[in-house]
Amino acid sequence: MKERMEQVEQIGRLKREKNAIVLAHNYERAEVQDIAEFVGDSLELARIAMDTDADIIIFCGVNFMAETAAILNPDKKVVIPDVCAICPMAQQLPQDVLRAAMREHPDADVVLYVNTLAESKALADCICTSANAPEIVRAMDTPTVLFGPDRNLAYYAQKGTSKMIVPVPEHGNCPSHHQITLEDLLKAKDAHPRAKIMAHPECIPEVQDRADYLASTSGMVKISKEVEDEEFLIGTEIGLLHRLEKEAPDKRFYPLSTTAVCPQMKMCTLENIEAALEHEKPEVVLSPEIMDAARKPIERMLALSH
Ligand code: 13P
Ligand code: SF4
Repeated sequence: MKERMEQVEQIGRLKREKNAIVLAHNYERAEVQDIAEFVGDSLELARIAMDTDADIIIFCGVNFMAETAAILNPDKKVVIPDVCAICPMAQQLPQDVLRAAMREHPDADVVLYVNTLAESKALADCICTSANAPEIVRAMDTPTVLFGPDRNLAYYAQKGTSKMIVPVPEHGNCPSHHQITLEDLLKAKDAHPRAKIMAHPECIPEVQDRADYLASTSGMVKISKEVEDEEFLIGTEIGLLHRLEKEAPDKRFYPLSTTAVCPQMKMCTLENIEAALEHEKPEVVLSPEIMDAARKPIERMLALSH
């Protein structure tokens, strides 16, 4: 325990000395969330990264999130404590796969989930997150929209628009969310019949269709505080439960599936955060051409979403 306290104090000292901040995604380990200046969803973290005066951003999340922060801050140092924190869904849409789909649908605008490689973002008309996907798709100019890499998010984005959404690749998904089944949901609901179901739009359509609330991770935190319901079944990565329990202590939260864990989101630890602050690496480095091209669709998203 003493060691943990010393580590937290050392991280605080290094942050002050170097004018650094720690940003953490809602799925990060509890102790990582607790030392962060800001904990949030992908959209919030991108906005904070753009607005900060800090010289160094220690980004506790997966690679595409740290890359987005670096793209929005070409003059700042963005450091990811473990370079192996690579989102498997983002890997599912390399540039050549996207280029082939664009050749097949030359008149379609391209909307990519922020959970994408920077090289693919560079080809997009606009980026979206789980907090704004339907809004962004509606704002596009073309009747057909190429949307990737998450087919489940494409299903969510399809609601409220008559545009034709073409998923690219055909079956892209997040392994941690895709494994939450309808059976998991029905079992959990049996065990907690009064609980309302909150699910992330990366869940399969059958789960989305039975959810009382569909929202981004921070959207779920907001809803849990605003509504009168007292119990919730949470259909997303289980790291979010820490923040839910902290910010809505009078409510009860149960996971839809206890195995919905994203291993890459658990790679940041107090040890590697301290090392990242001390040595100011591993730094996120992308080519200036990719950064410039990828910045445009990210900034367009920030301008379009409220
Ligand atoms: P949010 O933007 O809703 O936090 O989701 C990010 C993510 O990676 C979900 O798997
Ligand atoms: Fe990627 Fe899924 Fe992990 Fe989110 S939860 S970072 S989409 S693998």
